[in-house]
Amino acid sequence: MLLEQNSGSGYTNRTQSNGRVYIETYGCQMNVSDSEVVASILQSNGYSLTSKLDEADVILVNTCSIRDNAEERVWGRLDVFRQYKRRNPSVIVGVLGCMGERLKDSFFDKKNLVDIVAGPDAYRELPVLLRLAEEGQSGINVLLSREETYADISPVRLDKNGVSAFVSIMRGCNNMCSYCVVPYVRGAERSRDPETIVREVKELIDDGYREVTLLGQNVNSYHWTVENGGLVSFAKLLEMVAKINPTLRVRYSTSHPKDLSDEVLQTMARFGNICSHIHLPVQSGSSRILKLMNRGYTREYYMGRVEAIRRILPDCAISTDVIAGFCSETDADHRETLSLMQWANFDFAYMFKYSERPNTKAARRLPDDVPDETKARRLTEIIALQGKLSEQSKKKDVGKTFEVLIEGVSKKSDQHFYGRTSQNKVVVFPKGNSGIGDFVKVAILKSTPATLIGEMVL
Ligand code: SAH
Ligand code: SF4
Ligand code: F3S
Repeated sequence: MLLEQNSGSGYTNRTQSNGRVYIETYGCQMNVSDSEVVASILQSNGYSLTSKLDEADVILVNTCSIRDNAEERVWGRLDVFRQYKRRNPSVIVGVLGCMGERLKDSFFDKKNLVDIVAGPDAYRELPVLLRLAEEGQSGINVLLSREETYADISPVRLDKNGVSAFVSIMRGCNNMCSYCVVPYVRGAERSRDPETIVREVKELIDDGYREVTLLGQNVNSYHWTVENGGLVSFAKLLEMVAKINPTLRVRYSTSHPKDLSDEVLQTMARFGNICSHIHLPVQSGSSRILKLMNRGYTREYYMGRVEAIRRILPDCAISTDVIAGFCSETDADHRETLSLMQWANFDFAYMFKYSERPNTKAARRLPDDVPDETKARRLTEIIALQGKLSEQSKKKDVGKTFEVLIEGVSKKSDQHFYGRTSQNKVVVFPKGNSGIGDFVKVAILKSTPATLIGEMVL
């Protein structure tokens, strides 16, 4: 999953009567998707959206607790908002999302910092909480739900490109990886009614979208029982979405290795519009560490899943997440991580230093005993290795031709577009006669560490 990005919200609309809302989003794609649900709820309650902080009557920050530095960043932003509030005392500041859920009413301990707090399952209550705040009271709702999926809400898309959209298919997580705060801040896993997913995807197509990414913390455990007793598994859902329109690109994230079935891989092989990319977080290459992490698989099992992907989907790119310096990790464990990365030949990775999260199983039972310098050194080695692997992965594409979905104008040159291949690699190429949202064939001429450079072919 994409981590710790941050974005201002969509567009300005001054015609409605309630205040103007500015939303800033941190954390994973689920949070990006949730901010779109929040925007929808507030819009239908008479609020308008603004992407400019200095126009805001309400500032909402959708937060992440996954690592300590994710929270530090939010505290920094809250300080900035406090200064803004000093100049504009009627402005309401709200904390949404995972950090709100974790720290609850402790946000109110600091004077004039935060007016409302809403956890990830409490967004329908936001209009009520905002009204309380307008009356000068603090508003909080951090109840987690076993049912809430916001299935009936049509998210207001806050992205700028109008080409690619996130669609949440489930919420929460039941896995209890020992290092992870997500089950505590997002609650129990629940799947969303597939009919509402299909309906949302159809609406996106009608609005011109060409790609959807189905989101969940562990999409492979998606399941929905239909009225006649039949079961919609993730493989089945993938098929239902892929069949809606053969020109719609379908992606998904995240796959948990213990639950990635051959059936899902075979479904991917059957539909050309399901993209050839799997994000399969490994976390560690040492079976001993994986056990302490409570990941539910061994090194060998993970390797077996990679082999299955290579067998069933020979063109498929694989990306991963790695944690350096988990409790009791030795240099030998670390070398196993490096050797597994080398063996799997990952195309891309998100890499992190272990950060102890309060009240998780690891925090309660396992000492955070790897010194910070050691974590940092191991992380540097992991990043260096992945740098080489990512570069090789791009080099092997030079000379080949890929179908690319154009997502926007290159940041570096307004004469160039950027888009992605099915394997999720970014390609930059001269614009020609094409436009944003088009599928074009691009021959790859060379690669840089971050992108592929190409030209369109007919
Ligand atoms: N549900 C996804 C991951 C969600 S969190 C999955 O299971 O794969 C995204 C990534 O953050 C994780 O894959 C892990 O690599 C990292 N992460 C989670 N908790 C962490 C912690 N306490 N310290 C460092 N990295 C962590
Ligand atoms: Fe966290 Fe594990 Fe759930 Fe992913 S699967 S969100 S790492 S508990
Ligand atoms: Fe996502 Fe961060 Fe919450 S990774 S689920 S926003 S803790």
